[in-house]
Amino acid sequence: MEILAIALPAALALAADPIASLVDTAFVGRLGSVELAAVGVSVSVFNLVSKLFNVPLLNITTSFVAEEQALVTKSDNESIRIGQDRMVDDQSKTLLPSVSTSLALAAGIGIAEAVALSIGSGFLMNTMGITVDSPMRIPAEQFLTLRAFGAPPIVIALAAQGTFRGFKDTKTPLFAVGAGNLLNATLDPILIFFFGIGIGGAAIATVISEYLIAFILLWKLNSKVLLVNPNIDGRRVVQYLKSGALLIGRTLAVLVTMTLATSMAAREGPIPMAGHQICLQVWLAVSLLTDALALAGQALLAGGYSQGNYGQAREVIYRVLQIGLITGVALAIILFLGFGALSSLFTKDSEVLEIAWSGILFVAGSQPMNALAFVLDGLYYGVSDFEYAAYSMFLVGMISSVFLLVAASIFGLAGVWTGLFLFMTLRVVAGIWRLGTKSGPWKLIWSDMEQ
Ligand SMILES: *[C@@H]1O[C@H](CO)[C@@H](O)[C@H](O)[C@H]1NC(C)=O
Ligand SMILES: *[C@@H]1O[C@H](CO)[C@@H](O)[C@H](O)[C@H]1NC(C)=O
Repeated sequence: MEILAIALPAALALAADPIASLVDTAFVGRLGSVELAAVGVSVSVFNLVSKLFNVPLLNITTSFVAEEQALVTKSDNESIRIGQDRMVDDQSKTLLPSVSTSLALAAGIGIAEAVALSIGSGFLMNTMGITVDSPMRIPAEQFLTLRAFGAPPIVIALAAQGTFRGFKDTKTPLFAVGAGNLLNATLDPILIFFFGIGIGGAAIATVISEYLIAFILLWKLNSKVLLVNPNIDGRRVVQYLKSGALLIGRTLAVLVTMTLATSMAAREGPIPMAGHQICLQVWLAVSLLTDALALAGQALLAGGYSQGNYGQAREVIYRVLQIGLITGVALAIILFLGFGALSSLFTKDSEVLEIAWSGILFVAGSQPMNALAFVLDGLYYGVSDFEYAAYSMFLVGMISSVFLLVAASIFGLAGVWTGLFLFMTLRVVAGIWRLGTKSGPWKLIWSDMEQ
């Protein structure tokens, strides 16, 4: 029950993001296809930056806060038992160094991103292939420059969201994200059409809603913990940066493998590529559920592990793997039955649909494996084993990439899909292997089971 109570609101909050960008797309699409394409380019730059820098901060914050919070609860209980008062400041707010450190880092990263995106917008456009004489250039650059103002609240909101996840509270972030997206959807038509600001209006609406989300989260957080700590803990900063660098490397390994798969599919021509794209989008979209399960496992395991409550930690491990597998099998069955109807939402082209159809075994069949891979990620993050998570991903990505290169040039799309399935399988193998051999942090968790 505890796992689901964390995972379900988290899944809804995760789904809010793609829904919000659908709403944006629908409004901007009415302005014309040049605007739509321009927004698409800017948004993909933003997503890349977010994946590389912001999400690692969020994930690390969750682990560190859950660990620290668990230790505070534990020492609270001990001091109550021996009759001491707990050390709190006058407003009875707890000081958690990992929260104030994460927020300070978030502010720094957010400002750096804003500056880099505004100064570098021309360079970024050239890199993305939008030349100065392209009709997309002016709207895309305008959109990106305006959106850059939203970088600080985005990163701060993610750090705050990571903190709430660490407190095992995913409802507050859901509320904040929901309110922000609602505001965005309301402002979009007002600014774009009523005031006639066009594409800039879409950017301004998004930025305003990002400030709202950050404000709600900080306000709620402020009633629980001290947000600003004048003595920044240097050791914590180093831990954040080191784990952050590992997770950035890990993300790069995933991106390279996925990009290689896409480019191998693109070589087959536009029709197979379109079919592949449908398969891949569905494949990724349904991972939201297991993603949410992963972060529930992460927060619960981090708590049990840092308190030395290894029995509870084992229970979390078994349960999330179990629920993950059940979810994966259920998703596989649902997709197997519904993929036809789902894919015809994307296109009416019968040739493309036929290709997409031929991928059903891959899309549906790999779901249980995907679920396990995501849940295992959460468990490794939960014990802060970022090193293994990163280095194992380098190896797994390298093997899968070599396989993709060879198999795709011989078997075409079937080779690409087999390569992606291999990628997920190897991630699971790497995760289970270290768990099973009880090495690294897992040694402790299994240590008191021998008796
Ligand atoms: C602290 O005490 C509360 C209730 O007294 C209990 O629910 C909680 O599990 C305890 N936490 C730890 C870490 O012992
Ligand atoms: C890290 O954060 C992202 C973004 O919210 C989330 O999708 C992912 O599940 C998190 N990873 C883990 C292992 O919790």
